[in-house]
Amino acid sequence: SLIYRAGVLGRAPQVPTDFATLETRARAAMSARAWAYVAGGAGSGATMRANRAAFERHALVPRMASGHVSRDLSVELFGRRLPTPLLLAPIGAAAMVRADSDVHIGRGAAATGVPYILSNQGCSPMEDVAAAMGDAPRWFQLYWSTDDALVDSLLRRAEASGADAVVVTLDTTMLGWRPQDLNLGSLPFSQGIGIAQYTSDPRFREIVRERTADPGRAKGDVEVTLGAIRTMLSISREHPGSLRDNLRSPEPRAAVETFLDIYSNPGLDWETLATIKSRTSLPVLFKGIVHPDDARRAVEAGADGIVVSNHGGRQVDGAIASLDALPAVRAAVGEGMPLVLDSGVRSGADVVKALALGADAVAIGRPYMYGLALAGGAGVRDVVANLVAELDLTMGLIGAETVDDLTPEILTTGPAAG
Ligand code: FNR
Repeated sequence: SLIYRAGVLGRAPQVPTDFATLETRARAAMSARAWAYVAGGAGSGATMRANRAAFERHALVPRMASGHVSRDLSVELFGRRLPTPLLLAPIGAAAMVRADSDVHIGRGAAATGVPYILSNQGCSPMEDVAAAMGDAPRWFQLYWSTDDALVDSLLRRAEASGADAVVVTLDTTMLGWRPQDLNLGSLPFSQGIGIAQYTSDPRFREIVRERTADPGRAKGDVEVTLGAIRTMLSISREHPGSLRDNLRSPEPRAAVETFLDIYSNPGLDWETLATIKSRTSLPVLFKGIVHPDDARRAVEAGADGIVVSNHGGRQVDGAIASLDALPAVRAAVGEGMPLVLDSGVRSGADVVKALALGADAVAIGRPYMYGLALAGGAGVRDVVANLVAELDLTMGLIGAETVDDLTPEILTTGPAAG
């Protein structure tokens, strides 16, 4: 309401209050590579468009004269009361946009009380981000490594640095086909961006030492991996093409493939995932689920929650919109299981629609990255504050007092309310 009053009094806000303007301004402030990386999606972009179309297909049917003068937006997740049903989705290699990205995002998140899900492909060691966030809520996102001891090491660190939950991302056992990045020859781990959780990890260092122990080759040190990635980048600039194509040169190949082999596991299965509960005491969510049968399997594997997501349309081109997947996932897991939805959430109305269709909370990705591009941590904070203000206003205007009032009855997909 402060933002709203400032607007009424003629003061322009620090970051634009609607997504379209936010995106346009952020693009102008970003390098071509950063823009391609953040805004880009898989293939033709069909999934990104489907995400938006799904939100637009549902209409709110406001109810009048509810008698409420204020709203309570809070939700409880895993025993912690959160001020709003919002989280910041994990974003790897965010330093493509701004140096020390994760620390700035962490500070911005802390200023709002919205949990920040730290990416496994983060740009600062999770301990540094935790230190910058104080007691503010944070979760840790894990990519399941081919090395189980690395999984355990990352989980120990997440627990020790105060994570409230761990999110295991299932949809990115391989990177999707991302033409915007590929056409620029811009690789996700370019210049070593996005591997700080690894290079700061004792088990990762050990693996690199083991795998590069051959004295005829390179010295066992993480610098080898970083150096090889830099080499790979320069090769890719000369020969734009897929990541694997860029590895044809024998020199950097061994060390780079070490890193690529380790960070995720294309052979990941439910049996392996089911070991997660014996590996950590933290609540576990599986992220990237859009099929009700996978949601059931997740529950069988011990999930304490699910993130319904298609990775912001960055993985499978032509995939189902995340909002369209939500009702069947909710029906499959029943009422009690916490569900977070992401992919395409851009406004307060979108949050309302996602909650009405069965989510307990939503996560945003690109919007806060645009805030980061425009104004660092303060930009992240303001993007969240704008979204919260719009959510609060929308709830008030449709006659909802708490998030429990957001049920399917407030929506229609038809031209008229029934
Ligand atoms: C992501 N996403 C992501 N997810 C994840 O589990 N680990 C990660 O490291 C990343 N990295 C990442 C980088 C960038 C630049 C983007 C845009 C996204 C996916 C992210 O967590 C989330 O699912 C989507 O961003 C949500 O969609 P919107 O809000 O961006 O449409």
